[in-house]
Amino acid sequence: MKRRLLALVFLAPISAALAQQPTFTPAEIRKIVGHGPWPPPATLDAGNRVSGKPDAIALGEILFFSTKLSGNGQLACATCHVPELGWSDGKKTPNGLSAVDRNTPGLLNIRLNRWFGWDGGSDSLMGSVIRPWLDTREMGVSPVHVAKALREDAALACRYRKIFGPLESDDAVVMANAAKAIAAFQETLATSRTPFDDFRDALAVGRADPSYPEAAKRGLKIFVGKGDCQLCHFGPAFTNGEFHDTGISQFIAPGKIDNGRFGGIKFLRESQFNRLGRFNDDATGANAVATRHVETTHRNWGEFKVPTLRNLEATVPYMHNGSLASLHDVVKHYSEVSPDRVHSDGEALIRPLRLSAQESDDLVAFLRTLSVAADNRPFQKRHDSRTCE
Ligand code: HEC
Ligand code: HEC
Repeated sequence: MKRRLLALVFLAPISAALAQQPTFTPAEIRKIVGHGPWPPPATLDAGNRVSGKPDAIALGEILFFSTKLSGNGQLACATCHVPELGWSDGKKTPNGLSAVDRNTPGLLNIRLNRWFGWDGGSDSLMGSVIRPWLDTREMGVSPVHVAKALREDAALACRYRKIFGPLESDDAVVMANAAKAIAAFQETLATSRTPFDDFRDALAVGRADPSYPEAAKRGLKIFVGKGDCQLCHFGPAFTNGEFHDTGISQFIAPGKIDNGRFGGIKFLRESQFNRLGRFNDDATGANAVATRHVETTHRNWGEFKVPTLRNLEATVPYMHNGSLASLHDVVKHYSEVSPDRVHSDGEALIRPLRLSAQESDDLVAFLRTLSVAADNRPFQKRHDSRTCE
């Protein structure tokens, strides 16, 4: 009798833990498996003829860390895109030459994007390099400035010539080529495999992965289940690459609004550096189809790009305006969001989830399994800006 009681005392906590262990339905397993495999296959950018070329990647690395290509000679891409912070800056919103009103996104896995910027104002990595150069709040330089900086630096000019031939007299061409080199460098920035990827691969072949935390499994079940997060945070990079309104405030200041995707489409269509323009190296034009067809509609107001959920640990704070300071705050937002704040026509994808404290913790625990600390080590520069190898 006594022994039986003892056994009951010991077994009770174990059976309670077992009861909490989530099992996944075949439909849930299909969704989870859809978030892999990782890494995705390497591809080249047809619009950038130096995509994947080692010389261009080297020049791109040097230019990314150079302050020469900024209006005041003090700003580099790396000022805001800091390697140890997932190539973001840890700030709500950054200061370039003056205040910028959007949060700095991380750049790991950036090659998988189809549109760039929170508003999709660029349709290529090249375009998203040129945008901060020309933006007077960010780096504030002109094609003339960029071309002059390259012509006047013997090592940079030598590296440029090896890749692109003589430094053309057309400054816009020189600027676009420099941007293509930086784009080639950024294509190399990628995250490694995470605990989630091991769990996902095991699940795909019906194996268990005992090392994957129970709380993360419960959070994952919410992610693909009642949270329906994967509607937008879809596929291996956890983004459908498109734009939605999640009820985050559009106000930058009283009376001043960020119109999001609406303004992004206008900016993209007016830019001479979009894929419809002369700097696109894809002679077939196949990569410009989406740009040709994109048009503003009323629902684009207040829509922002669905960000990746990989490496979130390093890219705090969150959302286009950096308004949410932690993953718990993001989950609280989705838990409590008022449907009245979401104004996309007929898009009822966002509704308050009303999660319990335990469910919120579990969802955060899952999101944390999409990061590994090793991805945020200091970056070892591989090339010397003073030489021309
Ligand atoms: C003053 C800080 C600052 C500097 C300097 C800066 N960026 Fe950014 N970067 C940002 C911000 C803020 C955004 C988001 C802009 C937006 O959505 O309107 C961004 C967006 C991007 C994106 C798109 C990311 C995405 O997820 O779509 C890329 C790529 C990028 N920057 C690369 C660069 C490169 C390359 C340079 C140097 C030529 C550079 N940035 C300089 C702050 C900066
Ligand atoms: C309707 C599409 C949609 C759904 C559903 C959705 N998201 Fe998002 N998510 C977005 C968009 C769009 C943003 C950026 C919004 C902004 O900045 O204004 C975002 C931002 C985020 C961010 C911040 C990432 C960063 O780098 O700033 C996290 C974390 C996140 N979502 C997690 C979730 C979770 C967890 C769920 C499910 C509970 C979810 N999302 C459901 C579209 C969606």
